[in-house]
Amino acid sequence: MSYPYRFYAVVIPGLEDIAMKELEQLSAHEIQKDNGGVHFSGTMDTMFRVNIRSRCITRVLLRLKRFTAMSLNDIREKTQQVEWARFLNANVSLRVHVSCHASKLMHTAKIEAEICEAIKKSGFSLNSEDNTQQVFIRIENNRCLLSIDTSGERLDRRGYRLEGGKAPLRETLAAGVLQWMEWTQAETLMVPMCGSGTFAIEAAIAATHQAPGLNHAFAFLAWPQLKQKAWERVLKRARTMVKNIDSLPVYASDINQDAIEVTKRNAQRANVEKLMSIEQKDVKELSKPERDEPGLIVCNPPYGQRIDTNVRGLYAALGKLYQRDYRDWRMAVFSPERACEQALGLPVKRRLKVKHGGQWMYILHI
Ligand SMILES: C[S@@+](CC[C@H](N)C(=O)[O-])C[C@H]1O[C@@H](n2cnc3c(N)ncnc32)[C@H](O)[C@@H]1O
Repeated sequence: MSYPYRFYAVVIPGLEDIAMKELEQLSAHEIQKDNGGVHFSGTMDTMFRVNIRSRCITRVLLRLKRFTAMSLNDIREKTQQVEWARFLNANVSLRVHVSCHASKLMHTAKIEAEICEAIKKSGFSLNSEDNTQQVFIRIENNRCLLSIDTSGERLDRRGYRLEGGKAPLRETLAAGVLQWMEWTQAETLMVPMCGSGTFAIEAAIAATHQAPGLNHAFAFLAWPQLKQKAWERVLKRARTMVKNIDSLPVYASDINQDAIEVTKRNAQRANVEKLMSIEQKDVKELSKPERDEPGLIVCNPPYGQRIDTNVRGLYAALGKLYQRDYRDWRMAVFSPERACEQALGLPVKRRLKVKHGGQWMYILHI
């Protein structure tokens, strides 16, 4: 069977496998791994569904054209062959993202200008203030891939985290780690260095089956070719999936009272504040909730130059605490450097290597 459209899901490097699983669950087809992304095929409904329901994908691009380009002339000619009127209104503004690698054409600004010029010549004014569309062109070994963005703002911008605290985690990374640990609401979740609350909030959003993109302003909503009824069906289905839950075994804490206040306000905006416990506490005083069964601890300690703490000491204390009281629990810990893993001093079952804040790091499954 062949599918009408080929898409590309951009993901945080390291989350590709998790995104592939998610795409499978969302009934995408011909799923194929790439570095920092996943190719997939499907219909426009597939694209709507992935945009509104994915938890770990950053954005979805629709592939428009593949071609070889040895000159700017080639770029102009091929760009003009796209049926832009399906995606762009006569008055639109355009952001063009160019990436080049090992190709004859390497001057990104010139390529960008050529694409804008070609689209203008096809009858678009490119000076709208309220309708921006994004075009992506990737050139590798002279092979070009021209795509249009379907998502608009990045999908990790869910709208609830208006306050970030120190070194906040992208929502897609938090959700991806929870998926990697296969957390479900049947398991107690403790987040003892919650910062702005991203892990706890993402867990609650997932447990209540809320589609993260319910209120997102997707780029495709402004496309002239949008099939409104088909989109509304997907939206309605996502709305009816939401489960009413009174409480969840989710416990967020942080040593810093300001972080606790931020977490509360972020959770309120996400409409999940009443489902979880949020309290100020030093991780060294962590205690098990009443429920007797072992659960999952997710820990993103402070690190790097941005935060001035005795990082190693904190990892060592966390390791000791785990040995003493939580040996039958599962734990996921962020480790930016080998020294952190050494200080933790616990055997590691699996490692997930991801890029966070421009830096590669490991998440350790203990
Ligand atoms: C890297 S931030 C966590 C960011 C969080 N994942 C987010 O998305 O916002 C680390 C957090 O650990 C907290 N922290 C530092 N020392 C702590 C301790 N001894 N006990 C509990 N929390 C601590 C800091 O206040 C900070 O909020």
